[in-house]
Amino acid sequence: MQTQLNETVSYLNQQGITAPEIGIILGTGLGGLVKEIDVQLEVPYDTIPHFPVSTVESHHGKLIYGQLGGKTVLVMQGRFHYYEGYSMQQITYPVRVMKLLGVKRLLISNAAGAVNTNFKKSSLMLITDHINLYPDNPLIGKNLDEFGPRFPDMSDAYDRDMNNKLREIAKTNNITLHEGVYAPVQGPNLETAAEYRMIGKLGADAVGMSTVPEVIVANHMELPCCAISVLTDECDPDNLAPVELAEILEAAAVAEPQLTLLYKELVTQLA
Ligand code: HPA
Repeated sequence: MQTQLNETVSYLNQQGITAPEIGIILGTGLGGLVKEIDVQLEVPYDTIPHFPVSTVESHHGKLIYGQLGGKTVLVMQGRFHYYEGYSMQQITYPVRVMKLLGVKRLLISNAAGAVNTNFKKSSLMLITDHINLYPDNPLIGKNLDEFGPRFPDMSDAYDRDMNNKLREIAKTNNITLHEGVYAPVQGPNLETAAEYRMIGKLGADAVGMSTVPEVIVANHMELPCCAISVLTDECDPDNLAPVELAEILEAAAVAEPQLTLLYKELVTQLA
């Protein structure tokens, strides 16, 4: 993997991606932050050596390099999901690349279902912790000692400093920012009522199909990260209504301007 990573990094360096400070991974239907970026370079995933290629229609699949809030950012527009058939190592490959390129912090977003029935559709939830419900883990196999330890600590998986800043920014701008535990499932089907009930009982507030692999690998490399879920559907097991992708995208679009504001302001405030 190290040889491949070096090839990917030197290709991106050659393209002009030389000094990103902050990495951002944008979830389903959440590309709006890109409009705020003074774009210097766009690199489609399928042109990058050893990069997986996104297969989901709602994901554009490119790296965007540019200026946001006075910082140099590297944005993944479109991420890789387990349900697409990628391995956990493929899903998290771009996070390793970001770290090697020099990224100091990672900001993540996703679309998720609200298991906590107090949380409404199209509101935002700051992820303060997670329960990994994937049957897999990106760190399985020989440990990459040059990146981090065999048994990485996860007691502080989501960076306190960035979370505090996000709370403040939300308050200042009158944005409702719920907080809670995120649980990812492998998908691609949404959950049955019984599954939502179980996930809630386990202690999760939101359920999705992403983010945790990237967070695990970021923690392995001591790359501080934060993550926000846009809640796109209400998963009340006693009143479960059918959900379609179009509705999820619509709900994401409603909340997106708030997410964009939070992340743009966070980037601006970061040292
Ligand atoms: N379950 C899993 N993933 C999701 C959901 C959901 O209800 N909504 C958006 N992503």
